[in-house]
Amino acid sequence: MARIALIPGDGIGPEVIREAERVLLVIADLGDLSLEWDRWALGADHFLETGSTITEGEFRRLEEDYDAILLGALGDPRVPGNQHARDILLGLRVRLDLFVNYRPCRVVRPEHSPLKAAEGSRMDLHIFRENTEGIYGGVGGSLKTGTPDEVAIQEDINTRKGVERILRAAFEFAEREGRRRITVVDKANAMPFAGGLWRRTLEAVRSDHPGLEVELMYVDAMVMDMVRRPDHHEVVVTSNLFGDILSDLAAALVGGLGLAPSANLHPGRHALFEPVHGSAPDLAGSDQANPMAAILCVALLLTHLGEWGPARAVRAAVEAAMEEGVVTPDLGGTGGTGEVGEWIAERVANLLEEAHG
Ligand SMILES: NC(=O)c1ccc[n+]([C@@H]2O[C@H](COP(=O)([O-])OP(=O)(O)OC[C@H]3O[C@@H](n4cnc5c(N)ncnc54)[C@H](O)[C@@H]3O)[C@@H](O)[C@H]2O)c1
Repeated sequence: MARIALIPGDGIGPEVIREAERVLLVIADLGDLSLEWDRWALGADHFLETGSTITEGEFRRLEEDYDAILLGALGDPRVPGNQHARDILLGLRVRLDLFVNYRPCRVVRPEHSPLKAAEGSRMDLHIFRENTEGIYGGVGGSLKTGTPDEVAIQEDINTRKGVERILRAAFEFAEREGRRRITVVDKANAMPFAGGLWRRTLEAVRSDHPGLEVELMYVDAMVMDMVRRPDHHEVVVTSNLFGDILSDLAAALVGGLGLAPSANLHPGRHALFEPVHGSAPDLAGSDQANPMAAILCVALLLTHLGEWGPARAVRAAVEAAMEEGVVTPDLGGTGGTGEVGEWIAERVANLLEEAHG
């Protein structure tokens, strides 16, 4: 029995998670696996009503009672600074030590990519972003704040342990998936201390994977390369900051935020899945949000649970919706969130029934 915590969150979060839940229901009914899930009301409404973002007890239950978490999005204009989003999302990342941020980006329909079809259509990129340290580690401070003499320091934290475990996660994935090449992205020329640590650690890790071709790229060259040769890179591993930027570029190149799922993982321990997009307050309640990123998170979640067949069915159903033009306005369609979600869930049901013979 796999137990999942659903945190719909704010804005379009509940709308896209409703569609992901529809797909989960089909899988629980027709897949040969036992799934159970609970809905958690964490988010801006809960914070504004109770004054609590997330408690120690809630962290503990999410950690101990569930195999995985599926989150919609957090962020609400009524909460200045989005304190609740920081407490919940960063809290879970740190608390569960989710050191891998994994973002697959694959072009399904060339016309959804802003790149010329012939080049863009072959992009199939798997980005591994370090998720717990780097410049987002929150170490620093400011002096004489708000004066003309203000000084701000934001430290970039790189530990041997942190670098080694994200490199190993990416190399192991590349080998498991039969990929030929892995690209390690840094800025070792301008940031030699961090770059030196990454490159020394890389030497140790790559010797355990002699079959993989390793390419080292500076991040500025990498952004150009992703646009010029989108089909060249296969698996990319990098720091928190560079991974954040590269994965948003990759999402845009395959058709936008509505298509981009992500996994936050501590392999063997815990996992949190969330669409890359935020709560899109401009779309909330309009039935126009693309539910595909949230539904593709279900595919990642099933893969995490070792359920390859149902995961493949979910991906195939999303791709079929794109092929048949059953898409929301962000992809040039006229479909509503619920209509697209329902179509995909039905297709998943058909695929699972076919597989059962
Ligand atoms: N992981 C998260 O929960 C997360 C991530 C990013 C932003 N946020 C929060 O979300 C709020 C809005 O942030 P933002 O506007 O910068 O980013 P956003 O991702 O919410 O929206 C950016 C643009 O993309 C569009 N968009 C996003 N998701 C879409 C979807 N599924 N279908 C169609 N179009 C979609 C939006 O309409 C908007 O034009 C803020 O409070 C921000 O802090 C949360």
